[in-house]
Amino acid sequence: MKNVVFGAVSAAALMSANAVVAEPQAEVLHWWTSGGEAKSVAVLQQEFADNGGTWTDMPVAGGGGDAAMSALRARVLAGNAPTAVQLKGPAIQEWYEEGVLADISAVAEAEGWADVLPASIAGHMMCEGTWCAAPVNVHRVDWIWANADVLEANGIAMPTTWDEFNAAAEKLQAAGIIPLAHGGQAWQDATVFEAVALGILGPDGFRKAFVELDEATLTSDEMIAVFDQMRTLRGYVDPNFPGRDWNLATAMVMNGEAAFQIMGDWAKGEFLAAGKAPGEDFLCASVPGEGFLYNVDSFAMFDVEGEDNQAGQALLAKLIVGPSFQKVFNLNKGSIPARVDVALDEFDSCAHLSAKDMTASSEGGSLLPSYAHGMALRGAQSGAITDVVTSHFNSDMSSEEAVKQLATAIANSL
Ligand code: BGC
Repeated sequence: MKNVVFGAVSAAALMSANAVVAEPQAEVLHWWTSGGEAKSVAVLQQEFADNGGTWTDMPVAGGGGDAAMSALRARVLAGNAPTAVQLKGPAIQEWYEEGVLADISAVAEAEGWADVLPASIAGHMMCEGTWCAAPVNVHRVDWIWANADVLEANGIAMPTTWDEFNAAAEKLQAAGIIPLAHGGQAWQDATVFEAVALGILGPDGFRKAFVELDEATLTSDEMIAVFDQMRTLRGYVDPNFPGRDWNLATAMVMNGEAAFQIMGDWAKGEFLAAGKAPGEDFLCASVPGEGFLYNVDSFAMFDVEGEDNQAGQALLAKLIVGPSFQKVFNLNKGSIPARVDVALDEFDSCAHLSAKDMTASSEGGSLLPSYAHGMALRGAQSGAITDVVTSHFNSDMSSEEAVKQLATAIANSL
């Protein structure tokens, strides 16, 4: 297995003020193209430029990153990998096993990452004991977003159970409001599905199903109930949902066309970029049920030639985990910092709730990796689940049939 260590020259050059410094360069592949996302990635571009770096942008539009991952594969197969890539969860280790990642341990050790990152996050950034990715944030996936005025005008409080959610949705529908803003793309279906599953299966059931792939849980009555709730939710989306981008669904909540969206807190980045205030214009609450589904964005550096590129990788890794970037980026992105030592004073109430719930879930054993956002499973398994989820959501497949297909799809993917 080939694994590339940063040239001692470039790492040393970066660390030493007196050395002749290479000119840091990076071609950065990412999928942050919506309003809130673009504002957030601009923070990194600016910091990189302020530190003498030259950034070549390679944005690949498409929420959830499926298109970006296809673009990455094509580039690597062509022997022309980008220098830095937005990559996360087990996909990092999958690429490492292909021998195409650079080792960023020199930066991680010089910057003391082990002391400022929670062990659960650091674990995702390690490949056989070396650092192979730099974490950006913690996004929470299991959120409901709502238009505050729409709820108030209809006498609806933020739902705390799925029954309350369904009752609110019926009332809104009768009033001519779209209850649930949704975009019919497989990853968005999966996002809603895992949020529903967390509530209905509970944290232990979620872990058994989507981390351990336990067949009994995948085919249980509770899993049937999860698909039943998905069928109910399908009745609350408007007819134009197929193919809609997630940020356009967020805009429907913003402008009052729809009441709710079930989406990770990158949706908050959209509200904020549009000048909306949490608690006034929009509301956030975790989905009914216990637990916390985390989704950590990170960057991996690919094995590339040239001192300038390697200096760019080292600089980028250093900035990404640096306290200033972690604060400013996450204020825009809707997430919370991955570092534990960044003060949250300037963050809003949704971020505070996220941080509080994350700590409590971590202590209570209900801090769980998002399967829909590639944190829990390898690509073959998460893809197999999402295929079933999306074909159930977009057909009249029964919930019983869906759990059968789920078990078969998982068995075939192993
Ligand atoms: C990423 C977020 C991104 C979202 C929508 C998620 O998988 O973690 O950073 O904003 O997809 O594209």
